[in-house]
Amino acid sequence: MYEQELAATAKAMVAPGKGILAADESYGTANKRFEQLGIPTTEEMRRAYREMLFTAPGIGDFFSGVILFDETIRQSTKDGTPFTKVLSNAGIIPGIKLDEGAKPLAKAPGETVTEGLDGLRDRIAEYYKMGARFAKWRAVITIGDGIPSNRCLKINAHALARYAALCQEGGLTPIVEPEVLMDGDHTLERSYAVHDEVLKTVFDELYIQGIELDQMILKPSMVIPGEKSLQQASVEDVARWTVKCLRERVPAAVPGCAFLSGGQSDELATAHLNAMNALFKDQLPWQLTFSYGRALQQAAMQTWNGQDENVAAAQKELHHRAQFNSAAALGQYQPEMEKIAV
Ligand code: G3H
Repeated sequence: MYEQELAATAKAMVAPGKGILAADESYGTANKRFEQLGIPTTEEMRRAYREMLFTAPGIGDFFSGVILFDETIRQSTKDGTPFTKVLSNAGIIPGIKLDEGAKPLAKAPGETVTEGLDGLRDRIAEYYKMGARFAKWRAVITIGDGIPSNRCLKINAHALARYAALCQEGGLTPIVEPEVLMDGDHTLERSYAVHDEVLKTVFDELYIQGIELDQMILKPSMVIPGEKSLQQASVEDVARWTVKCLRERVPAAVPGCAFLSGGQSDELATAHLNAMNALFKDQLPWQLTFSYGRALQQAAMQTWNGQDENVAAAQKELHHRAQFNSAAALGQYQPEMEKIAV
């Protein structure tokens, strides 16, 4: 019933030079980031922060979509305009986080399963009415001694596919996000092997559950050594290994891959995306773009720091990162742009 709309939304989400702002931090995550900066962890502060982000002048040139959290999709600007309307007016598609977080997986120390499937059909119908047109579900895979297990990969892939099927039935284009964490001391090679297995398992499950691949977006992590690994990789190596892995495992029918930043610094996340596009863009069947949370928001949140008088400066920070990542999605980012922009 929604096939054409779902495919059109997917295509628009990864339109050339455009990417997605992930602003869907749950209460816990948003409050943790506020606490680190000494910002009060109240509903009003979270609302004011999101208003600062969504009303930043010119962001519609770089963001195709914004992922919202349940609290946020129900909020409005101070003058009463719903955030969904603010975004639509700027030409940005509102999206919604549908998962309810990664919880410990029974009998699997160190591993998690993402929850949130119960009642999902009704929640999707409500969010669609509120104006959401795409959704996100994040599975979390940890690399460690003897993990990830096959069971963890299968269970998370199964849940991702069940979520994606419900989304396509209810008119929301699903972002399928299997995140392999950077935590740990694993090598680039190990990261590659795990990403390879994860993507294989996810696409097998999407196939089994009848997901239309032209009506979804993949949100992968990049193939990067663990943050504690003694052997860090060059920007070019990360680009090569990530693209190699996606080429092996992501069917050409998928319109695009929009990466998460996963704790990389904002400049490195931009440089990695840029290298992939600069080196390989012309040879790839799908678009490669960004769907960053921290790597887009860090500087803006620090500058804002909970103060009204900092709103314009913080919006400028967001605009810079959005602009640089838009350039990276086209393979046209230069690190010198960072200096000129300050
Ligand atoms: O699910 C994760 C977020 O959507 C992306 O956040 O870029 O900070 O990893 P991140």
